[in-house]
Amino acid sequence: MTAPTPPVRLAVLASGAGSNLQAIIDHLDALGAARAAEVVLVASNRADAGALARARARRIAATVIADPADGRALARLLDAHRVELIALAGYLKLVPHEVTERWSGRIVNIHPALLPGFGGPGMYGRRVHEAVIAAGQRESGATVHQVDDAYDRGAIVAQERVPVEPGDTPESLAARVLGAEHRLYPRTLQALALALATSN
Ligand code: GAR
Repeated sequence: MTAPTPPVRLAVLASGAGSNLQAIIDHLDALGAARAAEVVLVASNRADAGALARARARRIAATVIADPADGRALARLLDAHRVELIALAGYLKLVPHEVTERWSGRIVNIHPALLPGFGGPGMYGRRVHEAVIAAGQRESGATVHQVDDAYDRGAIVAQERVPVEPGDTPESLAARVLGAEHRLYPRTLQALALALATSN
């Protein structure tokens, strides 16, 4: 089935390397005319974020968020690009209320563990995988969830599980989980965009 056109306008907010952003762009590109979303804006609280460089390399608008707590400014930026759906991909700042309210149900995050476990303030990157290993978990994975005003609390949209192997280090587990993120997030965003397009 061909996706409805035009594609849903997707913004990605990222603070780091941007490997999830890349997976999203590549997946939507590979879908061609069936893609239900298009990345129209990448924004970061860090000027040196790899995600911004990846966006510029693909001629996608790339912007530094001067004050991540300024909800009105962020909403203005998103409005200027007529953003319909927002994906946080390694974005380490709390999204202000103005934005979570306006884009309620249309803003999601990827977390590198199986929520509701191993989430919340301070739980990002290596710390998540250290905590999973320290707790003796047999499984970890990636979670896509709706974003509200608290870290990692919104409704779960999708999960992919991976095993925790004996002898895993935080780095080896992180790499396995990141592989799951790169499979799960682009497909989930395509599905969300399809649902959004058909509900419009
Ligand atoms: C990803 O593993 C993502 O799940 C994590 O940051 C990494 C970003 O990688 N996010 C969090 O920990 C948020 N709580 P990337 O910049 O290469 O996509």
